[in-house]
Amino acid sequence: MKHVYRPGKREGAPVLLLLHGTGGTEHDLLPVAGAISPDSAVLSVRGNVLENGMPRFFRRLAEGVFDIEDLVFRTAELHSFLDEAAAQYGFERGNVVAVGYSNGANIAGSMLFHYEGTLKGAILHHPMVPLRGVRLPGLSGVPVFIGAGENDPICRPEETDELGGLLSEAGAEVSVHWERAGHRLTGTEVAAAASWFAERFGEGAEGRGRA
Ligand code: MLT
Repeated sequence: MKHVYRPGKREGAPVLLLLHGTGGTEHDLLPVAGAISPDSAVLSVRGNVLENGMPRFFRRLAEGVFDIEDLVFRTAELHSFLDEAAAQYGFERGNVVAVGYSNGANIAGSMLFHYEGTLKGAILHHPMVPLRGVRLPGLSGVPVFIGAGENDPICRPEETDELGGLLSEAGAEVSVHWERAGHRLTGTEVAAAASWFAERFGEGAEGRGRA
């Protein structure tokens, strides 16, 4: 998959897997990674699907209606790509935290829904429920930050609650952060994600235990 990789500056800091929104590229979330964990290595990936020239991580049939067959296929593709990238760049495969926005948050959610141990944690900015009717793997001890907008017309508050519930039932430690905003990724939401990350994965966080 087309991507950029930047090595980290702190041994043991999680690798950030960056997943852009519809129409974005692998460059979009680099400043967000810098705000969340400037010492982390970064693997930023471009979605392999094009919708009217706009990169995405999986196909959709309409706004908010996903092509589930493609979603499952693309989720497997990204999961394998992570294995390959870990071998190529020499990072620890078990030390990857996803940071996704919108469509990127949806494929990160789908990874959590399908594969045990694929992500050490996830920051999901404006995610939806990626698919329904599947049994989630055990997510015990996996911290998940969900950033949501009270007036988000794409990821509605009820869907945010549903997603948080499904992840929590599977054992994930879910924190939901609400913004008085729509679908936009705001600076205050990124700042909230950064404090959440520092508490769980920042330097010395191991000794502090989980909140
Ligand atoms: C999706 O298609 O993943 C969601 O509708 C969010 C988006 O607009 O990309």
